[in-house]
Amino acid sequence: MLQRIVKPVLLLVLVVLSTHTYATEGMWLPQLLSGLNEKEMKGMGMKISASDIYNINKGSLKDAIVSFGGFCTAEVISEQGLLLTNHHCGYDAIQKHSSLQNNFLENGFWAKTAVEELPNPGLFATFIVRIDDVTKAALQDVKPGMSERERQSAIDKRLNEIRQNARKESWQETLVKPFYEGNQYFLFVTETYRDVRLVGAPPSSIGKFGSDTDNWVWPRHTGDFSMFRIYAGKDGRPAPYSKDNVPLKPKYALSISLKGVKQNDFTMVMGFPGRTTEYLPSEGVKQTVEVLDAAKVEMRDAALKIMDGYMRKDAQIKIQYAAKFAGTANYWKKWKGEMLGVKQTNGIGRKLQYEATYRQLLETNPAWKQQYAGVLDSLNGYYQQIQPYAQTRDYFSELTKNVELFDVGDRLINFLNNVHERGEAQYETMRQQFLESMQPFYQNYNATVDHDVAVSLLALYAKGVPAQYAGTEFTQIWQENNKDSRLLADKLYATSGLTSMDKLKAFVQQPYNTVVAQMWTDPAARLVMAMRKGYVDNVSRPLADLQSNINNLQRTYMQAQMEVMRSKKTFYPDANSTLRVTYGKVDGYNPRDAIHYDFYTYLDGVMEKYIPGDYEFDVPARLIELYKKKDYGRYGVNGKMPVCFIASNHTTGGNSGSPALDASGHLIGLNFDRTWEGTMSDINYDPSICRNIMVDIRYVLFIIDKYAGCTRLIDEMKLL
Ligand code: ARG
Ligand code: ASP
Repeated sequence: MLQRIVKPVLLLVLVVLSTHTYATEGMWLPQLLSGLNEKEMKGMGMKISASDIYNINKGSLKDAIVSFGGFCTAEVISEQGLLLTNHHCGYDAIQKHSSLQNNFLENGFWAKTAVEELPNPGLFATFIVRIDDVTKAALQDVKPGMSERERQSAIDKRLNEIRQNARKESWQETLVKPFYEGNQYFLFVTETYRDVRLVGAPPSSIGKFGSDTDNWVWPRHTGDFSMFRIYAGKDGRPAPYSKDNVPLKPKYALSISLKGVKQNDFTMVMGFPGRTTEYLPSEGVKQTVEVLDAAKVEMRDAALKIMDGYMRKDAQIKIQYAAKFAGTANYWKKWKGEMLGVKQTNGIGRKLQYEATYRQLLETNPAWKQQYAGVLDSLNGYYQQIQPYAQTRDYFSELTKNVELFDVGDRLINFLNNVHERGEAQYETMRQQFLESMQPFYQNYNATVDHDVAVSLLALYAKGVPAQYAGTEFTQIWQENNKDSRLLADKLYATSGLTSMDKLKAFVQQPYNTVVAQMWTDPAARLVMAMRKGYVDNVSRPLADLQSNINNLQRTYMQAQMEVMRSKKTFYPDANSTLRVTYGKVDGYNPRDAIHYDFYTYLDGVMEKYIPGDYEFDVPARLIELYKKKDYGRYGVNGKMPVCFIASNHTTGGNSGSPALDASGHLIGLNFDRTWEGTMSDINYDPSICRNIMVDIRYVLFIIDKYAGCTRLIDEMKLL
């Protein structure tokens, strides 16, 4: 009897639980999961425990995850140090090994034996050995009323001590980083391997399929992966490159599941997310999307349109500008998505709502009131004050980044400053080095394209930056040219000595003092000098002072939120390139009215997008053949080949290459992007539209095994 009653009641509870929306927001510290997240993770379906993820006494998941070169994540997937990361993370390495005869970017690369694996000077893989809370020791000399600078130097002194006294092996390194805006400090003991060799990569028509058009977009069909291997000295410890090094025997290697995922399945992503700003006050969010993103997007809109026009007409320019275009387009598109997403989910309104709740709760507790009264208002106030300076900073940096001639001017100034510091006697040697460093730049430079970019961007700069911040020298040049950017640009590109390698050589061939004097007569150099001077005179100082006030208050506001809003929210620290765990559920989403996106894509979708000969959507013949024969081996499901899937894991730049793990901690995919309505997750995560994009591990294995026939790699993995 009891049984019969209890059972339906239990069922009901379960149903209620499963429709409950979980807080998938958050990038959590692995060593704190047991206290903060384990219960929720298990409630969402996780079958392992927090100590299987982070454990300092035995190999755990964290021992399979590395920071890849400091800009991406990779994971160990065999007992012989085999690493998996994204194609776009390995891109530079693949490119450096490519030549016209052996174009690995275009055709892919597969080392058939260990001897063929290719070393990559400068590339490294860092493991996290241990993470300790060192907040108390770090902050022990901090006194109330200290200026930001005094505070920082008091902390820095302690951090040195902490790092020196840290318990570690001789080959290990240490790092201390601030969390929660400087309210907490954690020590990381790390192991960095610097012999990381390229093992395999698919052709770009798989690894970069869809290119910029599909970037940040779902549905996605990219096989964005490449493979490397960590080599160690014979003792298994980090060692500089040597042909005698041996494959690393890792503390932990991920097992791979071929089962795939279903709707609502638990997933977890571990990696090194770069930077987020989730705790801005409403004025900060507003400024980010309405002012700063908008300014940067406006500048890049114009630059990209011009590059694209030339690239379509001219094959040579196409090659010269492809990488620059991709780099400029990546964040341009991300910011556009961010602006849209914040608007669509009423992000600013929700922040205001959050602040209203915070203010109400603050009122209920005299101690809080005494400590934190006015903090939020002052912080919002400082954001308003910093706005024109921050806006000028962004216009200025976009102008010098996108007009390549100004970038040359910048580098020239830096070079001359360096000579000034080291003494004129060094001029001759430093000049040689400088000219050598400029050679690759001019190989990919086209002054006609750059001229047109300058015409557009100078006009936008003059419109966007008030004269009082642009400075008198810039304003004078602007007026001399009737405030006409075409007139100005025509003059610059016709007469400046910076527009080609030969001219630059002739320019710096002159004696040092002549070159310095001519910095104010060469029209391009003069303009860059004028803009830099305007920036130094009118912007950098107030910007730095206001920023220091903001940092200070942002720290106090963080502390206040963690106390006052404790009952509403569990707080996680903003991303700062340290190891984090994020978890979520496999799920589609509704980007716009009447549109629903499913969470899986298949090889059929690759074929739907296929445009023969197109630089973004071409498909290799061998893949078409496998598709026609449905020759998917053990990787297909019901006659279909899964390609990508999405889930609500909270990720950001740096999480590329991170493993997607299932409820048992097995590898099911590889993170590489986000859906573009959800790129605002960096400032305002919303579970309704924020999704991360992963390539299904079965597609990765299918390409290695069936497409490339590199079965030796499959043989060393542990497939379940
Ligand atoms: N949007 C992804 C990230 O921020 C992928 C970028 C590489 N892919 C590309 N088509 N540019 O890094
Ligand atoms: N594509 C990004 C990366 O390279 C990941 C992201 O921003 O979602 O790290």
